[in-house]
Amino acid sequence: MTGFALEAIEKAGIDELRALQLKRLRSTLNHAYANSPVYRAKFDAAGVHPDDCRSLADLRKFPFTSKSDLRDAYPFGMFAVPRQQCVRLHASSGTTGKPTVVGYTKNDIDTWSHVMARSIRAAGARPGDLVHVSYGYGLFTGGLGAHYGAERLGLTVVPFGGGQTERQVQLIRDFAPDIIMVTPSYMLAIADEFERQGLDPREASLRPGHLRRGAVDQRLRAAIEQRLRLDAVDIYGLSEVMGPGVAVECAESKDGPTIWEDHFYPEIVDPETGEPVAEGELGELVFTSLTKEALPVIRYRTRDLTRLLPGTARTMRRMEKITGRSDDMMIVRGVNVFPTQIEELILKQAALAPHYQCILTREGALDCLTVAVEAAAGLGPDDGQAGAAAQQLAHDIKAYVGTTAKIEVRPAGGIERSMGKAKRVVDQRPK
Ligand code: DLL
Repeated sequence: MTGFALEAIEKAGIDELRALQLKRLRSTLNHAYANSPVYRAKFDAAGVHPDDCRSLADLRKFPFTSKSDLRDAYPFGMFAVPRQQCVRLHASSGTTGKPTVVGYTKNDIDTWSHVMARSIRAAGARPGDLVHVSYGYGLFTGGLGAHYGAERLGLTVVPFGGGQTERQVQLIRDFAPDIIMVTPSYMLAIADEFERQGLDPREASLRPGHLRRGAVDQRLRAAIEQRLRLDAVDIYGLSEVMGPGVAVECAESKDGPTIWEDHFYPEIVDPETGEPVAEGELGELVFTSLTKEALPVIRYRTRDLTRLLPGTARTMRRMEKITGRSDDMMIVRGVNVFPTQIEELILKQAALAPHYQCILTREGALDCLTVAVEAAAGLGPDDGQAGAAAQQLAHDIKAYVGTTAKIEVRPAGGIERSMGKAKRVVDQRPK
């Protein structure tokens, strides 16, 4: 990638893109089969061989890979190169048991920096921009992924990382970054800190190109944009597939993340049956890496629910903002509930703030859902307006989601702020 001009492939004809994908796919399948005993065993067990892949549609003959494959091979068992050839390892913070470990060769880091630079450019970066990175550095892929991409693009990077919100505010004021890379929930926490210090967050002088991550609907985006007077775009990624930069929303269209399909091949499958769904249907996103060396992923089940949409600003297809994760789904008295559905309803209530948590408990034999949500800034939890909003929210949850929920209004700051991904579900039900 050279500077700020679009790469030829971003605007190539669809046939050229598909031909490149097929070539890369075949090479990836061969590499995985030849060099990773885990993949070889999985392909053999499914009775498939890399030579069986003659078209992109043939990919569906190959077995899925899941997080548990990576856990079973902990730490390096799925690598397709000797560990010694990896120049970096990252690991996801497994909430239960072992983390999943991912490795990168020098070429992998190069590819990642490339797609990340491409993402930051697509998000609206301009030459000379200053980028404040608030994603955590370390085993989480956010910080270093953003960092290498921004450096590759030739921008000035402030590697702040997560936490120390007071200091973040100070440096944001002093350095006047053009771009901030941050999760949406932490962006709101930074805005809160501006206000706590008696400052107007809109004076943060950030201008278009602000990147943020999260399953945020148009209204939460609007809340962020309005509160900080900046332009928010959605960036998507996951460590197993690479890290951030698998897909990003283009600043000129802002119509859902464009998937960098020349490196990551997407499919949507029915989460129950694993069968590919019809074009444009909602289902689970599955990725096959097309250029990775250390840890190729073949049909990796992301658990993220979305749909594929035709390309607009680029040749590559887009994905809709993540509607939820199949493993975030709560089953409350037999009703399937996603935190994002609750979030949408909270956003309708001006007297409530979009900081919330869904707490599941059991009373006798019955599941109980409590939605703990903060009152809007300046309102107390006992305020009449907040109380009325809570009542309306309970009503809406019953009407639109189909489950009974108790609403617990908390004062501002009553929901723990996460420096990364917000924890939306707390399941306290006995196992
Ligand atoms: O979260 C990588 C990343 C860092 C992406 C910074 C964007 C920005 P993991 O820790 O492996 O990697 O978590 C991946 O986070 O499967 C989704 O469920 C969720 N996620 C990532 N991007 C988005 C997004 C990083 N834009 C998991 N919207 C994924 C909603 C997202 N959820």
